Amino acid sequence: MLHSLAYVGISSPAVEAWPSFASEVLGCMVADPGDDGAVRLRVDDALWRIQVHPGDIDAVEYFGWAVTDEASLQTLRARLEAEGIEVHQGDAELTAARAVHELHWFVDPWGYRHELIWGQYMRPHSFRPSRPLSGFVTGQQGLGHVVIGMPDLERAHDFFTRVLGFELSDRIMSERMNANFYHVNGRHHTLALGRLPDGVTGFNHLMLQVRDIDDVGVAYDHCVERELPIVKSLGRHTNDQMISFYLTTPSSFNIEYGFGGVEIDDDWTPKTFDRASIWGHVLPAGVTKPSPGIVRQLD
Ligand SMILES: [Fe+2]
Repeated sequence: MLHSLAYVGISSPAVEAWPSFASEVLGCMVADPGDDGAVRLRVDDALWRIQVHPGDIDAVEYFGWAVTDEASLQTLRARLEAEGIEVHQGDAELTAARAVHELHWFVDPWGYRHELIWGQYMRPHSFRPSRPLSGFVTGQQGLGHVVIGMPDLERAHDFFTRVLGFELSDRIMSERMNANFYHVNGRHHTLALGRLPDGVTGFNHLMLQVRDIDDVGVAYDHCVERELPIVKSLGRHTNDQMISFYLTTPSSFNIEYGFGGVEIDDDWTPKTFDRASIWGHVLPAGVTKPSPGIVRQLD
């Protein structure tokens, strides 16, 4: 059904800061810009995976989800329509802009636009990282994972599991965090939903996974050299066991830059953890709350 996270679209007034940030710090390849001047970033042979559009405020424009086949699009459409959610088919202009064969989109109950796509265009052997880098873990596991904060976690859990087919990987219930983690492929989680206060939703971070621990260290060095804010120090998560750190982007949301996440196997059993990290992931001195990302008040 849902296969992987295909792409993420953001809009931001800081669009001009992205090419140097993404290439020098993250190691992404900067692709040709979109028609509206959007910065398009590559992490593999897909024509782009992250797109930052010009905009007045930092905002999430869309999440793109690849489905396994064309029939899945119709199944998901029917499920969404049974929930009373209007689903729109993307026209030729939109599919060209996203570089996909087919696209259907809807807005979820929290105002996020999701695009269900099939046939993301790939150009084999064309990805070149912008600095020496072992490469990003993508392929069957998609772009990475996204973490979204929701005020009504139970309702969000129901929507993303029953309607869209995400499967629970595990939960973290700690003093600082109440979050569910979901998989749709071998990646431990492609989506996580965290609880936020009533009336608030937020896109906290996008995780990019590299193939070598040294790539994490080199990215960390680039952040230190440029005095970029590291919002959580190097650490290892309890649930997916990823070694990572978190940095903020020019557009409010954070990037988790990590290595070595565990993969889901056939007899996976969800667990509950009482903390998010085995070690590290410490907030900067004097900071008491994690960087929230792109937060939005719900109507
Ligand atoms: Fe994460």
